[in-house]
Amino acid sequence: MQSLQRHTSKCAGGPVHTRKASRAFVSRSSRSLAVKVQSVAAPTALEVTSTASDVPYKMSQVVMWSEGKRLQTQVLPVAEDTITIRSLDWDRDRFDIEFGLENGTTYNAYLIYGADKTALVDASHEKFHNLFLEALQTELKAAGRSLDYIFVSHTEPDHSGLVPAVLDLHPDAVVCGSKVCISFLQNLTHRPFKAQVVKGGDKVDLGGGHVIEFVMAPNLHWPDTMFSFDHATGVMFTCDAFGMHYCSEQPFDADVKTILPHYRFYYDCLMKPNAKSVTTALRKVKDLPYSLIANGHGPLLRYNVAELVGDYGRWSAALSKGSTSVAVLYCSDYGFSDRLSQTLAKGITKAGVATDMIDLLSVDPQELVSVVGRASGLVLMSPPRDNADARTSLAALSSALKPKTKVVIAESYGGKDEPVDVLAANLVDVGAELLAPPLRVKDLPSQPTYQLFEEEGTDLAQALTAKEAMARKKAAMSGDVAKSLARLSTGLYVVTAQHNNARSAMVASWVSQASFEPLGLTISVAKDRAIESLMQVGDTFVLNCLGEDTYAPLLKHFLQRFAPGEDRFSGVNWFPSPTAKCPVLGDAIAYLECRVVSRLETPDHWVTYCEVVGGNVTNTAARTAVHRRKVATYY
Ligand code: FEO
Repeated sequence: MQSLQRHTSKCAGGPVHTRKASRAFVSRSSRSLAVKVQSVAAPTALEVTSTASDVPYKMSQVVMWSEGKRLQTQVLPVAEDTITIRSLDWDRDRFDIEFGLENGTTYNAYLIYGADKTALVDASHEKFHNLFLEALQTELKAAGRSLDYIFVSHTEPDHSGLVPAVLDLHPDAVVCGSKVCISFLQNLTHRPFKAQVVKGGDKVDLGGGHVIEFVMAPNLHWPDTMFSFDHATGVMFTCDAFGMHYCSEQPFDADVKTILPHYRFYYDCLMKPNAKSVTTALRKVKDLPYSLIANGHGPLLRYNVAELVGDYGRWSAALSKGSTSVAVLYCSDYGFSDRLSQTLAKGITKAGVATDMIDLLSVDPQELVSVVGRASGLVLMSPPRDNADARTSLAALSSALKPKTKVVIAESYGGKDEPVDVLAANLVDVGAELLAPPLRVKDLPSQPTYQLFEEEGTDLAQALTAKEAMARKKAAMSGDVAKSLARLSTGLYVVTAQHNNARSAMVASWVSQASFEPLGLTISVAKDRAIESLMQVGDTFVLNCLGEDTYAPLLKHFLQRFAPGEDRFSGVNWFPSPTAKCPVLGDAIAYLECRVVSRLETPDHWVTYCEVVGGNVTNTAARTAVHRRKVATYY
């Protein structure tokens, strides 16, 4: 909550460095929000608007895509000689299935007009084929330019999907990217193109001071990710890093209070599993005088650069300082190995344990030995059969694994997976302890698959830290304080939530009314609870009140330890709530339908503030069960 409150005005915090970035546009915009765009000619297909930003921008017509989803492009200047073409995916509601989106997303690309050369940074998603190419060609024509370079931050299709199409229009453009990136693109395009493999510290001079320096930022969040920094403007192009899935016409981080939950959720899902890589990347860029973060998703960071970049540092450092870590071994670009391993890692980091993400197909064996040697736990995603690189890595793994290392093994759904039973037997032979039978993926991964993987990751982390977590709880308060705190009495409740076909439940007692108008309440949810993923800002759930004479069977059922992915409602009488469509327990005495408004972070819980959107009493004669404790070191 501290960070939610600190940005009360759009200038609070201020940029890290105040160079000349954006100055031309700030002064122009301050004249009038309704001013017509003068800096770039308005093409016929674009409507000139300027309402939500202090920088004038142009919006394209809306194009309808699959199932009535709206697509649109937005073009505006963001720094001297630099414009963005933002592809607005207004209604996208899922990202990689497990990543529910409340506010769509954007794919941000950029044009840099050097004095001599012109460069495009990233190239949007294939679904924007016509919209993006039209905007690109229009801007280049208006500027009297052709494309000399394409800087590809990494090779995920939401940013590189249109690189082949751009090359069709600009066959002489030189594609700059990391070695892995260029190799991937060569496989993707199936045709020759001019390529320049770049390393960290390499520079491309576009003229007029626009010297672009590349910074390798592997695992943020793709193995081949790189940042590009423009020494003329102080703009740092970071693609996925420092992004968020949030689509609006406001191109900048002016309303930080609104976007911060989305920024944090995105970090937790995509960057937290790579916290060590985040720390490394921040160290690499700390001496670069960046003043604007030109990210690949959501609003650009302009007004709160120091705070928001600092958040990445703080969140990552908090996770990295623990002594427990899990090595997550996966195979990039093989089946669903990337996605599923990230989901496992998300579950692990939810429980406060750091992860080291290792690509089995490209890791140096010595590095693998080093990471596995210091890891407390291991996740092994099944690699493709008969792959020489994978075999080398597996041999190194067997030699490095410490006896009694807790291991999770999972299929990658790649079509030719190494059998997981064979992998499990080999690791058990060298002393590993399987946390559970290998995770098998029989169908295209869906939301329940990702829920299963996330919960398995949390289970692994909890198994690794159970003893130390209990010791920490006991050490946190004296016996007298623990007894007096336990004199706070509460009710007994069961929280139930459902998204599509994923649902979960938990017993809750830290519940309190918090507002009259509108009706609001708070519920504290431990960070490593499975249901936490279904209680993000905007999500709905039901609070079921238990009766003092009838609570025991429900409590016994919901307090049992469920296996990852296990249906919490098996054998339970329930019906969907009228508004939120979340489970209402038939044996509850009353229920409240709630929508999450905000979340306040404490060291080990999220205090979830929710508006009450519905409810009813189902047993008017019954009284609410009261929860009393002897000591406050337990719930
Ligand atoms: Fe936004 Fe890694 O793609």
